[in-house]
Amino acid sequence: MNKGYFITFEGADGCGKTTQLELLKNYLVNEGFEVVVTREPGAKGLGEKFREILLNYDGVVSDRCESFLFLADRAQNIDTIVKPAVSEGKIVLCDRHIDSSTAYQGYGRGLDIQQIKNLNLLATGGMLPDLTIVFDIDIETSMQRVGKNKDRMENSGNEFFNRVRNGYLELAKQEPDRIKVVDSTASIDDIHNKVKNIVLALLN
Ligand code: TMP
Repeated sequence: MNKGYFITFEGADGCGKTTQLELLKNYLVNEGFEVVVTREPGAKGLGEKFREILLNYDGVVSDRCESFLFLADRAQNIDTIVKPAVSEGKIVLCDRHIDSSTAYQGYGRGLDIQQIKNLNLLATGGMLPDLTIVFDIDIETSMQRVGKNKDRMENSGNEFFNRVRNGYLELAKQEPDRIKVVDSTASIDDIHNKVKNIVLALLN
């Protein structure tokens, strides 16, 4: 059987990636592709428990503890959802993955970038996305979209989110073949068309 594809969506909170993932999923399904949607944290099953802790626990969470919880969630998502679907020839669309750890826990929280990258590889067993799309947006606009009801991560402040944003852009520079940056201030339709073109270039 043909190998499928693993595509990840990334960006700071409020960047619009989840809306775009849904639009791409609908498009691909209409075109006859078999598509599996998953997310980190919070994939179906155990992932939902990790998400609850990571986003809503209201006590102290150390930066290293936070990192390992995201990584544990990632290992479970890769082993139980992503790898099986890709090996069955499906297209897996994943809302956040390894680059979230590097951008948020590395660039954002200030943990060692290379160590986070190594831990990502441990969590995924070495599997890498075929394509990653980063939705880039200024922090003022993205925080407006997030609104007042912020979860634990969204409460990290503008300086943190500026580091996250710059971290994503730096990662895209380091891996231009895998990581494509899309301007997420454009209209939803324009962004969708760009995403479609990037993905079709991979599938063809
Ligand atoms: P989201 O599902 O609404 O995008 O929220 C997930 C939050 O978790 C978001 O603030 C980014 C954060 N996150 C990390 O800090 N590190 C990670 O590795 C992942 C997957 C998410």
